[in-house]
Amino acid sequence: MSEGKSFPELVTGGAGYIVSHAVLALVDAGWPVAVIDNLSTGFRFAVPAGVAFYAGDIADEALLARIFAE
Ligand SMILES: NC(=O)c1ccc[n+]([C@@H]2O[C@H](COP(=O)([O-])OP(=O)(O)OC[C@H]3O[C@@H](n4cnc5c(N)ncnc54)[C@H](O)[C@@H]3O)[C@@H](O)[C@H]2O)c1
Repeated sequence: MSEGKSFPELVTGGAGYIVSHAVLALVDAGWPVAVIDNLSTGFRFAVPAGVAFYAGDIADEALLARIFAE
C-alpha cells in the first residue's frame, strides 16, 4: 500500500482519540506519517513514537509552508 511513497501523509488532528487510531493503522500498514495537532483537545502522548509531530493549528499557513518544505 505504501510502495513508492517518499514523503509522509500529513494527518490533521492526529493527537485526538479517533484519529490517533487512524495514525496507528497507517503506521502498521507501513505508511510514513506526520501529524499536525494544536492539542486543543488532543494529547501529545497519543501520537506514536517515531511519527513526526507538529504542534500547531491547521490554519497556520506559515507552519504548513514549513512542514511542506521539509
Ligand atoms: N471512549 C470513547 O468512546 C471516546 C473517547 C474520546 C472521544 N470520544 C468521542 O469521539 C469523537 C471524536 O473524538 P476525537 O478525540 O477523535 O476528536 P476531537 O475533535 O477531540 O479531536 C480532534 C483533534 O484535532 C485537534 N484539533 C482541533 N482543532 C484543530 C486545529 N484547528 N488545528 C490542529 N488541530 C486541531 C484536537 O487537538 C484533537 O487532537 C468525539 O465525539 C468524542 O467525544 C469517544
